[in-house]
Amino acid sequence: MKKVVLAYSGGLDTSCAVRWLKEQGYEVICFVADLGQGLGSGEDFGAIEERALSAGASKVYIKDLQDEFVEDFILPALKANAIYEGKYLLATALGRPLIAKYLVQIAHKEKADTVAHGCTGKGNDQVRFEVSTGILDPALNIIAPVRVWEFKSREEEIEYAQMYNIPIDVSKKKPYSIDRNIWGISIEAGVLENLETEPPEDAYLITKSPTHVSTYPKYIEVYFQGGVPKKIDGKAYKLTALISHLNEIGGLHGVGRTDLVENRLVGIKSREIYEAPAATILYTAHKELESLVLDRELMHFKEIASLKYSELVYYGLWFSHLKTSLDAFVNSTQKFVTGSIKLKLFKGSCVPVARKSSFSLYKKELSTYGKEDKFNQQLAEGFIKIWGMPYQR
Ligand code: ARG
Repeated sequence: MKKVVLAYSGGLDTSCAVRWLKEQGYEVICFVADLGQGLGSGEDFGAIEERALSAGASKVYIKDLQDEFVEDFILPALKANAIYEGKYLLATALGRPLIAKYLVQIAHKEKADTVAHGCTGKGNDQVRFEVSTGILDPALNIIAPVRVWEFKSREEEIEYAQMYNIPIDVSKKKPYSIDRNIWGISIEAGVLENLETEPPEDAYLITKSPTHVSTYPKYIEVYFQGGVPKKIDGKAYKLTALISHLNEIGGLHGVGRTDLVENRLVGIKSREIYEAPAATILYTAHKELESLVLDRELMHFKEIASLKYSELVYYGLWFSHLKTSLDAFVNSTQKFVTGSIKLKLFKGSCVPVARKSSFSLYKKELSTYGKEDKFNQQLAEGFIKIWGMPYQR
């Protein structure tokens, strides 16, 4: 029998996909990746496994990939300051190549020649899954049931699930499409498709409304070593725990919300809102520290690299040679990114207020307007003449 490994979330689409793939003559092996998505109320991985099996899966793999996600995917993006279209911190986009990596690994182990995912034909995630899979093993076949099956609506899928006794809780009307992991939440569809409407409060899951949070600011200090966040307020954390901790603090102060009309790879503009408290705090702190320790040329060149890096992540090119080459560059830039940044979280904002590093390039005796000034102002005259010389006719 033909075997397929399906990236399974436990939701309606992938549950119907299990049954549907079976009907196409496949033995279906489900793979559930734990990227810190936090399951819905009353859900646990046991329930998800049950559901996959009752939908017809022959086997279910559940893997806690949070540490690998944080170390090998989130951390490189943070070091690179990768941010798409100025606002999106790429939580969903970073998770896809990791899931693809395990789809391929399990396919090899199970001697399956096909993998499958539950993405639609309109989004970026199908691209990320398929391009990553193709790079890792071009011989694997890929099926995207949602792109090809006959169901025209959620109602038809629900009917199909009920016909085969797949235990899906359809009682709650789903107002949004949500993707969540430890690095952030992406929320789209429903009323959000109306660009003239402010996102309703109920769309947000982990951040309090900045209107209703504490009127007292919260100060936190993040310590980095070689570009890696190591401590919060002097206390050492493992990276995964550090991120969870910052999601909590940031969320309490309404930090990390964005509302973006973005350019999808498939040519569609779409509106999506994001919540990423920890990511927002860490990006803000990391960039602030870099501005202290990187020289001007390195910093400006790195900004160009950041832009390209974010496109590569967004476009599904995580495993491309350009991305891995950029990682080598970025890692080299992090040599002196060691020090502490103090941030003020206040009613949804997150701003750096103090910084220190033993690698700081800031020299007060040069920048000061006070009497300790050591800058030789007479040298400026000659410098400016030569600097401007090439532009005179
Ligand atoms: N627009 C984001 C991206 O392409 C997130 C996509 C998934 N969003 C969702 N609500 N399921 O990375």
